[in-house]
Amino acid sequence: MPTRILMVCLGNICRSPLAEGILASKLPKNDFLVDSAGTGHWHVGNPPDKRSILTAEKNGIDITNQRGKLFKPSFFKEYDYIYVMDTNNYADVIKMAKNEDEKMKVQLILDELFPGENVDVPDPYHGIQSNFDQVFEMLDEACDSIANKLLEKK
Ligand code: 4NP
Repeated sequence: MPTRILMVCLGNICRSPLAEGILASKLPKNDFLVDSAGTGHWHVGNPPDKRSILTAEKNGIDITNQRGKLFKPSFFKEYDYIYVMDTNNYADVIKMAKNEDEKMKVQLILDELFPGENVDVPDPYHGIQSNFDQVFEMLDEACDSIANKLLEKK
C-alpha cells in the first residue's frame, strides 16, 4: 500500500498543483501517491493556472495533466498526510474533520521549515510570474524536508 499525501489550497490551480508536482518528483512512484485538492469549487476539472505550469516547467516538472478537484471529508480516510498551504485552508479543512485522528493528519506545509510559526504560502493568484517562482522555492524546500522524512519511515 503506497503512502498517500494530499496537498490542499483554495483554488487547486496555483499552489497545491505545484506542491503535488514537486513532492511527486522527489519520491518513488511505487511507494507514494501524491495528489492535490482545493477547498473552493470554482476550478474543479480545470488544469493548473498557466503561471504554475510555466514555473513548474522551468524547473523540469510537468503538471499539465492535473485537474482541479474539491476537498471532500472522505479524503481524511483516503490520505495519510494532508498538507495545507495557509491558515485559511487549515481552518476550512479542520472544520470537516470528524475526530482527533483526522485532525492530526492536517499540517501547515511551511511548519516543515518554521515549526509553530503559522507561516502561510502566499496566494499568488492575483500576482505575477515571479510570485509563482517564489512559491515554487518555498514549496521545494518544504518538500525536501517532507520527502526525507517520508523516505526514512518507509
Ligand atoms: P490557489 O490560488 O489557492 O493557490 O489555487 C487561487 C486560485 C483561484 C482562486 C483563489 C486562489 N479563486 O478565487 O478563483
